[in-house]
Amino acid sequence: LLKRIQIIDTCLQRRIVTNAVEPSNVLKNEVNGEQEGWKAFDAIQLERQEQAERSVLISCHSKTNEKKFLKYLSIHGDIKNSFFYESYGTYAVVEFANQESIASLHEAVNLPVVSNESVVPFKSRLLSLRSLGAAVVPNSQTGPKCKPQATIPLTELIQRLSKEESIDHQVTSLMKAYQVTEENTRLRFLVCSLLKDIAAAYFPECNVRPFGSSVNGFGKLGCDLDMFLDLDSISGRNVPMPKAGLVLEYQMKRSNSERAVTQSILSVVGECVDRFGPGCVGVQKILNARCPLVRFSHQPSNFQCDLTANNRVAMKTSELLYLYGCLDGRVRGLVFAVRCWARVHSVTSSIPGAWISNFSLTVMVLFYLQRRAAPLIPTLDHLRSLAGPADKSVIEGNDCTFVSDLSKIQPQDNTETLEQLLCGFFHFYSTFPFARKSINIRKGKEQTKPEVVPLHIQNPFEVSLNVSKNVNAAQLERFVALCQEGAWQLEQSATLTRGTGHAPSPWGLAALLVPAAGAPGIKGRKKRKREPASERIKSLLESLKNKV
Ligand code: CTP
Ligand code: MG
Repeated sequence: LLKRIQIIDTCLQRRIVTNAVEPSNVLKNEVNGEQEGWKAFDAIQLERQEQAERSVLISCHSKTNEKKFLKYLSIHGDIKNSFFYESYGTYAVVEFANQESIASLHEAVNLPVVSNESVVPFKSRLLSLRSLGAAVVPNSQTGPKCKPQATIPLTELIQRLSKEESIDHQVTSLMKAYQVTEENTRLRFLVCSLLKDIAAAYFPECNVRPFGSSVNGFGKLGCDLDMFLDLDSISGRNVPMPKAGLVLEYQMKRSNSERAVTQSILSVVGECVDRFGPGCVGVQKILNARCPLVRFSHQPSNFQCDLTANNRVAMKTSELLYLYGCLDGRVRGLVFAVRCWARVHSVTSSIPGAWISNFSLTVMVLFYLQRRAAPLIPTLDHLRSLAGPADKSVIEGNDCTFVSDLSKIQPQDNTETLEQLLCGFFHFYSTFPFARKSINIRKGKEQTKPEVVPLHIQNPFEVSLNVSKNVNAAQLERFVALCQEGAWQLEQSATLTRGTGHAPSPWGLAALLVPAAGAPGIKGRKKRKREPASERIKSLLESLKNKV
């Protein structure tokens, strides 16, 4: 009976925690019959994209009078939603209720008048608001309230977490402070939609879709924006070919490989983004990478963007991670805690190199959760066995089938707290046989390593690939040492009396996030050795080799 009660409690927790942290990409449920607060990944993507198509991004004065500004814009139609934010100036995202408003706006917007310069006459949905003459100045004393698009400083986060009463509360608090917000998600989809308008100059029927941490539920404010140029939706692919009789088909340029086609498409689109894309700066074409991409910075949103093409498997991976994150609130909680800890201690980095990536780390957390005595999440093979005919998906010969309906997955009967899970994570990887075993979330069991590399994590769908191919032995050793230290620190926290008062000293997760030199409790313990410069240069060279 006790066990049943615990299972029911976990089911409730699944809902409560999922709702409590309000993941920005879980829209309010509007469809009958669906689990409360949950919507299928594809439905969310479509809804967000459609919302973005009806939106514009406007640079304005920091003292803009919000009311007058919105009234001025509403001559083009009803405004459904709007917010302001700051990034190299003040910007407003305005979502109209109807698509026609965008056409009306485009009719009315002026071309800029510049002296000593010339402009590329490309009309986008990135606009500037100017006020001419005193009578129409739409400014106020205070300016609009801006929505934050960046995380709070680490010291503030540590203070905030130190005041929480349990590690579970600390994790919830961390997520509230760090998770991509509703507004940030809107902005991400809007930037993709602006990019689509540029790529549409070549391919009118294309789509640009975000993937990775922008949509998989594990995104942190400030994470990069991974986008993929989707040309598979072009009509004609599914037009049936008649058995006999006349048939017309397009004449198309041919290339000797899919990769060569992707490279030439990205090359011209990248060129277009560079020369004509307003707000897009620092464009780099990295076409010889395993997955060719165009990297650039979108200044108005302050997003670092990676545009790829022909990358449907990564989209499926994002959906899989999203599903795992929705299964139980503790999954996202633990991933956030581990990712944040890893970043503070430079296990991960924003610069590509021989270190563990956030994606690898996420897969490691999922694997660990599958390996608990009472698994918290099912294996990918199990999710595959639950798939219906509509879920079938084979991409470039890779089986990417898994169930997309959350309600078909039985809740697992794990009742551990986040404190136990976090501590367990550190113990698990402190002693994991990395030398012999590969991490495999499809099987939910470690497998014999197929090749000699320091860390082997099988790509969930492209099973011949190692997600962590870039990681060198030194980085893996550091990770293991830090896991040992993390486990030790959490155990210390459990025995320590927690500080009280206005500014309690860091404990639990907060203590784990204190950067190494000032970390309480580690004084007198063996100091971590900094890698010699030659080792760091070697890692950098290895990572470059992997990229090319
Ligand atoms: N990906 C992959 N194999 C890799 C690296 C990346 O399949 N070796 C896919 C994953 O779907 C991943 C996405 O590409 O989510 C984006 O990669 P990346 O930006 O490195 O990871 P994110 O999950 O977006 O994490 P971050 O917040 O660090 O950007
Ligand atoms: Mg990313």
